[in-house]
Amino acid sequence: MLQQLGIGIAITGTGSAVPSAVLDNHGMSHIVETSDEWISTRTGIRQRRLAGADGSLKAIATQAAQNALDMAGITPMDVDLILLTTSTPDDLFGSASQIQAELGAAQAVAFDLTAACSGFVFGMVTASQFIRTGTYQTVLVIGADILSRWVDWTDRRTCVLFGDGAGAIVMQAHPENDRFLGFELRSDGTQSDSLTLAFQSHPKALVDGITVGQGTFQPIAMNGQEIYRFAVKKVPEVIEKALFRANLTVDQVDWLLLHQANQRILDAVAERLGIPDHKVISNMAKYGNTSAASIPLALDEVVREGKIKSGDVIAASGFGAGLTWGAAIFQWGR
Ligand code: ACO
Repeated sequence: MLQQLGIGIAITGTGSAVPSAVLDNHGMSHIVETSDEWISTRTGIRQRRLAGADGSLKAIATQAAQNALDMAGITPMDVDLILLTTSTPDDLFGSASQIQAELGAAQAVAFDLTAACSGFVFGMVTASQFIRTGTYQTVLVIGADILSRWVDWTDRRTCVLFGDGAGAIVMQAHPENDRFLGFELRSDGTQSDSLTLAFQSHPKALVDGITVGQGTFQPIAMNGQEIYRFAVKKVPEVIEKALFRANLTVDQVDWLLLHQANQRILDAVAERLGIPDHKVISNMAKYGNTSAASIPLALDEVVREGKIKSGDVIAASGFGAGLTWGAAIFQWGR
């Protein structure tokens, strides 16, 4: 149906990359007062990857992107647009251009997009609009985050949750098929205090009457219970809305691909939607919550394992700080 409104879209490649250092829950218990039992039963997380002091977002994002291009069978010079979704760029002016240079994607325009853990879904939808209108043919959407830079490593309520990683997909104009079936995006800034990585400024007097604010970002602060309640209520709603727009029903969904925040959230959302466990994609046990990277990282894993077949219907949903949330319904493959 949507194809009548514009050009068809196919999802032709996935890729991912994670840092090599592994911190398991036992290791975490040497940093804060916690235990493998507490973390795994409350969250489903058993270990996470950490980028380390020399790690860069550019490195993991570029690797993920190159892997996605290889699967799609195209070269960096074929890419028209690179969308880097991240909250943790190497450079606040944006890291997408650095990735463009590293890939050698000289024809591509590149920019960052920030919507926290919803970033990847927001990025896919943004990419789809450029393709539908015929503006661009080939778009790389990357989700990458190094939240370990901004975690409060003394706060056991948050530091156990996060990990670092990157994932990417290639979205391409397709003359016959349309695989991007529907979406819905939402924001509610009135609840932004529930999850923050906020700039804190200290006054610096320049001349008489003029003081500027200088400072840095404060570590992640979260009201876990509020975020849990928000996710469990809003995510099923936004998926149902996106499915409605795609003219599909829940029983036509082959895979539920949620932002990998917490296994209990995944279970509760699946239950509310009536989606059985075997359709729920979950890899947070290995990587924790990798924010904008979690959806493409999990997608790449199941695609490479051969679990997802061409034409399978995927209901993806991101949710998180902002607050932001959204869903995209698409089919894997050409
Ligand atoms: N190890 C051991 N004990 C802990 C830990 C820990 N890592 N963290 C908290 N506790 C303790 C608390 O101090 C508290 O103890 P008290 O009762 O003596 O005060 C007790 O455990 C319960 O704490 P709560 O904060 O109430 O724990 P809750 O059951 O709510 O679980 C959790 C916390 C897992 C974060 C939950 O609120 C949740 O899943 N929230 C969703 C938020 C989320 O997933 N955020 C991810 C980032 S946001 C995003 O990606 C969308």
